[in-house]
Amino acid sequence: MSPVPTSEELGKRRSIAVARGVSSVVSSYVDTASGGGLRDVDGREWIDFASGIAVTNVGNAAPRVVEAVRAQVERFTHTCFMVAPYESYVAVCEQLIDLTPGEFEKRAALFNSGAEAVENAVKIARHATGRQAVVAFDHAYHGRTNLTMAMTAKAMPYKYGFGPFAPEVYRVPMSYPLRDGGLSGAEAAARAIDMIEKQIGAGNVAAVLIEPIQGEGGFVVPAPGFLPAVAGWARGAGAAFVADEIQTGFCRTGAWFASEHEGIEPDLVTTAKGMGGGLPIAGVVGRAELMDAVHAGGLGGTYGGNPVACAASLAAIETMRELDLAGAAQAIEARMRPVLAGLAAADPGIAEVRGRGAMLAIELVRPGTIDPDPVRTSAVAHACHAAGLLVLTCGTYGNVLRFLPPLVIAEPELTRGLEVLERALQA
Ligand SMILES: Cc1ncc(COP(=O)(O)O)c(C=O)c1O
Repeated sequence: MSPVPTSEELGKRRSIAVARGVSSVVSSYVDTASGGGLRDVDGREWIDFASGIAVTNVGNAAPRVVEAVRAQVERFTHTCFMVAPYESYVAVCEQLIDLTPGEFEKRAALFNSGAEAVENAVKIARHATGRQAVVAFDHAYHGRTNLTMAMTAKAMPYKYGFGPFAPEVYRVPMSYPLRDGGLSGAEAAARAIDMIEKQIGAGNVAAVLIEPIQGEGGFVVPAPGFLPAVAGWARGAGAAFVADEIQTGFCRTGAWFASEHEGIEPDLVTTAKGMGGGLPIAGVVGRAELMDAVHAGGLGGTYGGNPVACAASLAAIETMRELDLAGAAQAIEARMRPVLAGLAAADPGIAEVRGRGAMLAIELVRPGTIDPDPVRTSAVAHACHAAGLLVLTCGTYGNVLRFLPPLVIAEPELTRGLEVLERALQA
């Protein structure tokens, strides 16, 4: 064996050590990564259009994050905030309060993963309202724990064979302009609200929980007006309107939070991914009266808001401010969208280019129809991987190619990535 194991050697070890249920998009193993690129153990360079699924918004191994983590591990690594608290936890909560939409009084709490944040948002909403029902949407993705599996829409691979799922979770139709016959935002909201009122009962609803732009479900951008109408209904019904900004948050869509594009002020916001600059941390932030309804000791966990993750998060947020990464995401959109639109104009198999900021996607269909084409989608993704471009697929029908470059990606890498994509689509 070579001193540094090759991807092939690691693949063999993996097959007898790592559970099959944990799969990877590519078979190459990472050696180093920085900014907008990765290098694998075989010495191959990759352009990163994945960001570890919308995590490394500030770039991989971002200098400020690395320095903050190094300094923190030398001071202390863990005390558990519920046992012996420390400043950085408070500081991250202050940042969440400051950065999320809404001028009202807020509180925040920290967790480890997106799914855990969603679970806690539901706990808080149920406790505060004294109600049980949770409304989720078609194509939603909220995680893989028992409650969040119930809220996630897609069976394979996320839910298949893993039931029974948590009760009191209800699914209603999403606004999906390509696939709902062109309903306006108001019409799509009326359809969802009618179903909530008739099938659940407004007075039973604790929370309406939605991704402002759906992630795993296909980068679905609801029609304008849909989110404000649903949020307005929830407020009127005394339910918490919860924006799951785990994938969309922290500058990804060209704003600090995607809720801002539609001027909505969620009662609660869930965050994770980009917030930690690559370290695991998540949060729930929102109206003080909801957050503080929970009794002391009702929220928490051993590692939630771990000091190393908090240090990374503060450094990541500082980097986002300093480099204006919301502006960078807008610039990425300005660079990518015309190219994607050009590809779509020349290719009847691309039904739509959509997304916001550096969260863009194309949906592939059989020409002349809107029948999904997951086979071609997978083939294009594989062709990109073979040429060194890391892209991901998504969507209920597996027919969406999504692009999530780090927000610090350099222009030449972005251009090369787009060229690889163009060749992959043509092939
Ligand atoms: C919108 C959304 N919510 C929740 C989650 C779950 O986050 P995690 O994988 O950190 O549990 C994800 C992850 O992709 C997500 O995109």
